[in-house]
Amino acid sequence: MSEPTRETAHVVTVTGAAGQIAYSLLFRIAAGEIFGPRVPIELRLLEIPSAVGVAEGVAMELEDAAFPALESVSVTSDATEAFDGANAAFLVGAKPRGAGMERADLLTANGAIFRTQGQAINAGAADDIRVLVVGNPANTNAFIAANHAPDVPSDRFTALMRLDHNRALSQLGHKLSVPTTALGGMVVWGNHSLSQFPDTTYLTVDGKPVSGDLDTRWIEDDFIPRVAGRGGEIIKVRGSSSAASAASAAVDHMRDWVQGGPEGNDESWTTVAMVSRGDYGIPEGLVCGQPVRSVGGKLEVVSDLEISPWQRHRIDASVAELISEREAVASLGLL
Ligand code: NAI
Repeated sequence: MSEPTRETAHVVTVTGAAGQIAYSLLFRIAAGEIFGPRVPIELRLLEIPSAVGVAEGVAMELEDAAFPALESVSVTSDATEAFDGANAAFLVGAKPRGAGMERADLLTANGAIFRTQGQAINAGAADDIRVLVVGNPANTNAFIAANHAPDVPSDRFTALMRLDHNRALSQLGHKLSVPTTALGGMVVWGNHSLSQFPDTTYLTVDGKPVSGDLDTRWIEDDFIPRVAGRGGEIIKVRGSSSAASAASAAVDHMRDWVQGGPEGNDESWTTVAMVSRGDYGIPEGLVCGQPVRSVGGKLEVVSDLEISPWQRHRIDASVAELISEREAVASLGLL
């Protein structure tokens, strides 16, 4: 009897590999949660030179876990090497905002990182590359990377807003006393920032519309600020920023993209910050949170939802922030 042929390994690149999100994310990727437990994985860990040693330690722990799917792990500080042949890339590493740092300083530092990484993806990634930017400012970092990868279709560049989406589902599950799996029709529009718009207009429980049952005051005064400000709340309580929940959302995002989903009824979509094609009046090219589902491994915006003037106002406010970040990036010569 012949041996079953083993699939060729999926090359998965994770930047910021010595950081706190990666410390959770890497183990879940290696466990097969995204591509399936039997698909072999080749992990490439990218770090800045001063953190390569720590990343080597993380690589040792990954080996010690003896994950059946993990074929190899390597560590590098060279972006070209890290993205060569990559099928999936998690761009987690970013420069945090230091004391006394202006917004322009932050955009300049991160712009340089995401320009280099976009160029390396353009030069060497596999044809089916899927990119998820986690490092903040995530939407604009993804915008910069996509702009420096002209040969890669722009729908392969996304930014993480699944954490905001999951936070919204959790708050709503508590409020309505239902499991989060019963909820559909949630979307978080805009930027991964305080200006985001977690929108319950199309919310369903077990496929039935429920948004009329939610108190408008609660939505405006409690729900929206709570979801948008949850990152700050975690820092206050935990003493450092969300890590395991961010990693978990990154797994959800990439798993649904690769495997297709979410499945269910007409309201079965999720939130992905993807490059706008002009849907919902969002200027083309901006990386903006929108209702998205993955069909056959390809992301599609759910583009036929009706928008009220109140929603329009909220979406426009967050889009205005994305436009101002794009202008700042352009004026800094990062495009
Ligand atoms: P961390 O500070 O623990 O780790 C970041 C790592 O990135 C560090 O090890 C650093 O050396 C590395 N790094 C910096 N520049 C790099 C480069 N050019 N190439 C490769 N690695 C580089 O930070 P943590 O907690 O892991 O968070 C990472 C990023 O994710 C932050 O920007 C954070 O604000 C963002 N974040 C985004 C969320 C989202 O929902 N989009 C949620 C939570 C965090």
